[in-house]
Amino acid sequence: MGSNKLFDLEGRTVIITGGGRGIGKVYAKSCVDAGMKVVIADIHGEEAETTAAELRDSGGDAIAVTTDISNEESVAAMAKKTMEAFGRIDGVVNNASLMSSLPRRSWLEIPTEEWDRVMAVDLRGLLTVCRAVYPHMKAQKCGKIINVSSSRVLEGTPNRLHYTSAKAGVIGFSRALAREVGDDGINVNVVMPGLTLSDTQLASSSTSYLSDEYNQQRALKRPQTPEDLVGTVLFLLSPASDFITGQTINVDGGKSMH
Ligand SMILES: NC(=O)c1ccc[n+]([C@@H]2O[C@H](COP(=O)([O-])OP(=O)(O)OC[C@H]3O[C@@H](n4cnc5c(N)ncnc54)[C@H](O)[C@@H]3O)[C@@H](O)[C@H]2O)c1
Repeated sequence: MGSNKLFDLEGRTVIITGGGRGIGKVYAKSCVDAGMKVVIADIHGEEAETTAAELRDSGGDAIAVTTDISNEESVAAMAKKTMEAFGRIDGVVNNASLMSSLPRRSWLEIPTEEWDRVMAVDLRGLLTVCRAVYPHMKAQKCGKIINVSSSRVLEGTPNRLHYTSAKAGVIGFSRALAREVGDDGINVNVVMPGLTLSDTQLASSSTSYLSDEYNQQRALKRPQTPEDLVGTVLFLLSPASDFITGQTINVDGGKSMH
């Protein structure tokens, strides 16, 4: 392949779960800018539709499908609609999670139902989405799965123990899955964002939580924005990363190093 094609994403189809708002919305816009056909699969259907409409207005190819990743039927319907609209599934960014809506509280105070719901969305949701796209990627003999973890796993950040546990699970899930689907030409990798100023993070966090103290612990001492994650996601979707699988890329300005 010529080096000019290494980062060519033109015409590829990507599903972005949780793409209606927050960081996922920035991924969706960036993928459209790169010439991709984008499916925004979000439980908040109205926001997903608004985002898709904005992308179409700017000349992009995007559809919204209201999807609950914790529900198998809903995910199967989303994969079917993707195939009907675009005929292929080249990539999936498993970005949806329960995060900004979770209270920060002691591990002793997390209700069991909330623990189970977080596991059902933030971990089992990936299984459900991967199983739904797998037959199509297998038939194509290629596919790129990108699972979103969190640098909390490296830092051991307290007060959302269910969320941190699920995000640690994302790494084991991705490593083992990479081996199970390698023969089908499918890559599975993980992106680990540091504390990122998504619109939802800003709305749900106190100013003390988002203080400059955190930024000062980075090698690159500034706040992290959703745009900081885009390059890594596009790289992992592109042919440039065809021989990378089962890996985790931490994008946090060098706060944690692993
Ligand atoms: N913002 C941060 O500081 C940060 C740090 C590390 C990791 N992350 C991860 O990055 C991703 C995006 O973060 P964000 O800040 O945009 O979070 P967010 O909470 O704002 O967005 C999550 C998205 O997932 C969607 N979603 C929730 N439950 C769903 C379900 N059952 N089915 C389908 N969609 C569902 C929401 O509607 C939303 O669009 C998440 O996986 C998050 O855990 C974020």
